[in-house]
Amino acid sequence: MSGGERRTVSVEIALPPSGSVSGAAADIRAGLTKPFKEISPRYFYDDRGSQLFERITELPEYYPNRCERQILRDHSTEIAETTRASTLIELGSGSAAKSRVLLDAIRDAGTLRTYCPVDISEEITRETAEMIASEYDGVEVRGLVCDFEHDLERIPVGGPRLIALLGGTVGNLPPQQRSGFLRRVANLLDSEDYFLLGVDLIKDPATLVAAYDDPQGVTAEFNRNALRVLNDRFGGNFDPEAFEHVALWDPQNLWIEMRLRSLRDQRVRLEDLDLELDFSQGEEMRTEISTKFAREGLESIFAEADLELTGWFPSEGDEYALAIARSARPG
Ligand code: AVJ
Repeated sequence: MSGGERRTVSVEIALPPSGSVSGAAADIRAGLTKPFKEISPRYFYDDRGSQLFERITELPEYYPNRCERQILRDHSTEIAETTRASTLIELGSGSAAKSRVLLDAIRDAGTLRTYCPVDISEEITRETAEMIASEYDGVEVRGLVCDFEHDLERIPVGGPRLIALLGGTVGNLPPQQRSGFLRRVANLLDSEDYFLLGVDLIKDPATLVAAYDDPQGVTAEFNRNALRVLNDRFGGNFDPEAFEHVALWDPQNLWIEMRLRSLRDQRVRLEDLDLELDFSQGEEMRTEISTKFAREGLESIFAEADLELTGWFPSEGDEYALAIARSARPG
């Protein structure tokens, strides 16, 4: 380490050593024993799943990440100047690919002191924390390994803070979970803190479905990967090739739904859960919802959670937007 360089990196692990596993087991069992079987989209993301998702973001049909990058490129300076953040907290930070634009802008505004990447993967969080610390001299990096849906309250205090959830991930939460999550965010926000949320926007169904059903079949492989993850984690014997990918637009709920359709009558066993599952030919299991929003709808969802929309940055073609919010009753 050279003379004037200051590096402060810490990583806190907030996952209970066994709790996360048994929690996952209960979660999986509950979903798979429903009449309309479902599994949580968090089971897409083992190493292979994360790589497949990276490939999805490079598909011509999958626009959200490209649009978000454009918005960040064009508006990060304004976001930094509006929020005057000293701490950027990024929920679901992964490799922090998107955060650098934001970090640069906050540094250039002269307010950046702390970056806090929050992610479920310890390995990625450690790498990201080290990487950012080495790239941003003098910035304190405080990684947090947790499931932010459960351990949100562990994020550091001391602001002004900007809490960001990018990528459209909020769309994966069913409405009840989503309002619970947003309410907890609102509760955490002090009078100087801001929330930055990336949302995919409602558009013509053909464009939406194409983004989740690409002709190369990358999304199909990503979807089926959930079965491999279940096999690995719970001693399952799913044959991923015995299921086909389904993506449909639900106009009532305003979400894209991904499912896996059983190609034959089959019985699957998850050894570690002592669970036997019967699938009939054509039976569909839900693997993900990805909700799409409009500004007005999001404003009322925010209002119900005691959040006030104070900024709205749509992409050039109105495909995607970044929303900025404050607490309606700062604590
Ligand atoms: C990473 C959750 C935002 O919902 O669009 C991509 C995941 N699923 N293709 C999304 C995903 C199918 C993605 N998010």
